[in-house]
Amino acid sequence: MDFDETAVPGYGGLLRLDGQVFVVLGAGQGIGRQSAHALAQAGATVVCVGRRAEPTERVAREVGGVAIVADAQDRGDMVRLFDEVRTRFGKLNGIVDIIAIGIRGGVLDMTDDDYQWQHDNVLRHAFLALQLGAPLMRDSGGGVAVLVSSVAGQHVWPGITLAYSIFKAALDHMTRVAAVELGPLGIRVNTVSPGLIKTPRWQTQTAEWYERVAQRYPVRRIGEPSDIASVILFLSSELSRNMTGQVLVADGGLTIQSPSPVPDDMQGWSR
Ligand SMILES: NC(=O)c1ccc[n+]([C@@H]2O[C@H](COP(=O)([O-])OP(=O)(O)OC[C@H]3O[C@@H](n4cnc5c(N)ncnc54)[C@H](OP(=O)(O)O)[C@@H]3O)[C@@H](O)[C@H]2O)c1
Repeated sequence: MDFDETAVPGYGGLLRLDGQVFVVLGAGQGIGRQSAHALAQAGATVVCVGRRAEPTERVAREVGGVAIVADAQDRGDMVRLFDEVRTRFGKLNGIVDIIAIGIRGGVLDMTDDDYQWQHDNVLRHAFLALQLGAPLMRDSGGGVAVLVSSVAGQHVWPGITLAYSIFKAALDHMTRVAAVELGPLGIRVNTVSPGLIKTPRWQTQTAEWYERVAQRYPVRRIGEPSDIASVILFLSSELSRNMTGQVLVADGGLTIQSPSPVPDDMQGWSR
């Protein structure tokens, strides 16, 4: 062959989600709210889900979508959610699940109750979303699921909580297991793994605090919720159609670094 005549797709068009229906679990603020906007800007109708009616309905109004007040950790609520989506839209093309918040506690001091709470807070809604949402996506001709993990699931920092880290690691592996099982149904499953993100619950810090923390990141900035929503949009679109079972790190380069193998006052040892 003298010349490559392989068809060239319209790459910009592959990002579009026109006519598609997406459920966003945890849409009321932070990464969830930004994701709802990103998906809606790409043309999707977004079903915004949260436990508190006010923020959930507000974001639904912002994006021209629909609000459903539900606890994503409750099986009954999740059955109702997907039934309502099936009845109202007759299809589902994607699920974005951003829910989780880390609580403190280490190997020596974490209580049974906190351990179980964190398990459900990180894993239960993702399991329910995949189990109950997949049949509707299959019946819609396929779909995507995008979860949100944390680089704490891959790396260990002093002071990081035991349960949050290990259940995020489990979420990463849930991504791979579900991708293999659901791939033949036309469903891709991927996860975004952020470093520190300036979400509403972190926005109480001072400018000096952010400035100091930013110095630990090769990009010298702390990520915004929109930085994660943009990766979620990519993973929701046909631009990523050859990707499944992946945990995509979006952490400003934080975790490509490693502590020096020797203490700071012993630097110069290799020269
Ligand atoms: N922020 C960071 O620095 C950072 C770093 C690494 C990873 N992450 C990960 O990023 C994700 C999002 O973090 P974020 O800070 O944007 O979240 P967030 O501000 O805590 O927002 C969570 C949203 O989820 C909703 N929600 C919580 N539990 C729910 C439930 N059971 N059912 C339905 N909705 C529920 C909340 O609304 P309601 O209260 O109304 O339900 C809220 O709108 C999490 O998975 C987190 O682990 C964050």
